[in-house]
Amino acid sequence: MAISRFPLLNTLWCRIISVSMRFKILGLALGLILLLGLALTVQMRLIQEDTLRKELQRHGIALTRDLAARAAEFILLDDLYSLHNLLQDTQTHNSNVRYVFILDSRGMPLVYSFAQGFPQGMREANTVAPTDRYHIQRLETNEGVVWDIAAPILAGEGGVARIGVSETGLQATLALTTRQFLITTALIAFLGMAVASILTWMITRPISQLVEATKAVAAGQFDTRVTPWADDEIGTLTAAFNLMTAELAKAAREREERDQLRGLLLDKIITAQEEERRRIARELHDDTGQALTAIKMGLSNAIAMCGPCRERGRLDQLHNLTGRTLSSVRQLALELRPPVLDDLGLVAAIRRYIADWGRTVEIAISFESFGLDNIRFDPAVETAVYRIVQEALTNVARHANAQHVGVVLERRGTECVAIVEDDGQGFDKAAAKNKRHLGLQGMEERAKLVQGRLMIETTPGSGTTIFVRVPLQGAAKISLREPVLP
Ligand SMILES: Nc1ncnc2c1ncn2[C@@H]1O[C@H](COP(=O)(O)OP(=O)(O)OP(=O)(O)O)[C@@H](O)[C@H]1O
Ligand SMILES: [Mg+2]
Repeated sequence: MAISRFPLLNTLWCRIISVSMRFKILGLALGLILLLGLALTVQMRLIQEDTLRKELQRHGIALTRDLAARAAEFILLDDLYSLHNLLQDTQTHNSNVRYVFILDSRGMPLVYSFAQGFPQGMREANTVAPTDRYHIQRLETNEGVVWDIAAPILAGEGGVARIGVSETGLQATLALTTRQFLITTALIAFLGMAVASILTWMITRPISQLVEATKAVAAGQFDTRVTPWADDEIGTLTAAFNLMTAELAKAAREREERDQLRGLLLDKIITAQEEERRRIARELHDDTGQALTAIKMGLSNAIAMCGPCRERGRLDQLHNLTGRTLSSVRQLALELRPPVLDDLGLVAAIRRYIADWGRTVEIAISFESFGLDNIRFDPAVETAVYRIVQEALTNVARHANAQHVGVVLERRGTECVAIVEDDGQGFDKAAAKNKRHLGLQGMEERAKLVQGRLMIETTPGSGTTIFVRVPLQGAAKISLREPVLP
C-alpha cells in the first residue's frame, strides 16, 4: 500500500492498530460523537446566521422606509427639531440600530445620530436611486459588520434616510447558541463514553479471559477453562476453546500415562538386562571358570606325571589353550557385570573399567573423582552412571579419533556429576539424533530413569563433552576402604 512510502504515517498507523481493542472502540465512539456534534454545530450556526441576518436586514429595511415616510412631513415643514426626535426615537427603540441620519436633496447631512460629528466618507458609502425603494450595503467597520440601508424620501426630492444596523447582537446570539451546542456535544460525548465503556467491558472481558486462558494453555496448563458469558459468537468461541483444552488435557494425560508406562517398561528391561548380565557373569565365573580351572589343573598334573613323554607337546598345547580360554571367560564375565560395582561401588568400578580401557585403546585417558570415595548410592544410580560412562568411552574409542579423554566423577551438593570429555572430531547432534543409533539415546534414558539429566556439548571439529547429573537420594557412607586394584 502507498502508506509504506511514508514512514511517519506507517509508524502512526502501526501505533493506532496496536492499541488494545477497548481503546479502539472507545476512541471510535468518542470520535463519532465529536464529529457528529461538531458537524451539527457548524450546520446549525450557518443556518441560524443566515436566518438572523435576513431578519436583521428585513427589519432594517422596514425601519428605514418607515423613517423615510415619517420624515417627509417634517422636511416639508422644515421642522429639524421633530426630525431629530424622530431619529432619536428610531435609535432608542431598536437596539440593532448603530446610527441613523438623513441627507437633504443635495446629499448633505441634515440630521444625524453621530455624537462625534458626521464621519467622513459616510455619505458616499451607500447611495440609492430615486426610483428604488431602498438600497442595502454591507460595511466592514471596526465594530464589525454593519448593514447600511438607504431609502429615498419623496422619491429623492426630500433627500435620503439612512440607517445602519449592526450584526453585533446577531453574533452574540450565534456565539451563545454555538456554546450551548458544544456543551451539549461534550455532555453527550461524556455519556456516550460511559455507555461505550460499559459495552466494551462487556465485549472485551470474555476476549481478555480467552487471551489469558490461551497463554495458560501455551504454558502447559491444559485444565484451564473459561466461563461462557452469553450465547453469542464469543460464547461459541469460548465453548470451542473449552472443548479444545479438554481434548488437550486428555491427550496430555494419555501421553503422560504412556510415558509412565514406557518408563516402567524401560526400567524393567534395563533391570532385567542387568540381572541377566549379573547371572551370566556369575555362571561364567562360578561354573565355566571353575570347570576350566579344574581342567587346567588336571592338565598340569598330567604334564607332571607324563614327564618327557610322547604326548607332552599335545598336553602343553591343551594346557595353554585352557589358560587363554579361562582368561577370556574371566574378561567376558568382568565386562558383563564387574563384581567390583556391586562390591565396592561406582568410583572403584569406573577406575577399574578405565584401567582396562586404557590397556586396550590407544588413547591417553585420565580419571579424577571428588567427594565420592567410600560412599555407596542406590544400586540403580550406580549402575546408570557406570553404564553411561561405559557407553561414552565406547563412543570415544569408536568415533572420536581423539588424543586424550578425561573422566571426572564428583559430588556437587546433592548431585553426582559425571563428565567425559574428549578432544576428538566432535559431531553434529541433530544429524546423530536422526540416525537410528541407540547409544546416546540409551544414555539419556538411563539418566532419566534415575531422575537425572544428560547434556552433550559438541560441534564438528571441537571435541565432545558428556555431562550427567543424577540426584543422590539414599547416599550412604560406607566404612569399606577401597583396595588397590591392578
Ligand atoms: N565422542 C564422540 N565423538 C565423535 N562422534 C561421536 C561421539 N559420540 C557419538 N558420536 C557420534 O554420534 C553417533 C551416535 O552415537 P551412538 O552412541 O548413539 O550410536 P553408535 O555408537 O553409532 O551406535 P550404538 O547404537 O552401537 O551405540 C555416532 O555414530 C557418532 O557419529
Ligand atoms: Mg555408541
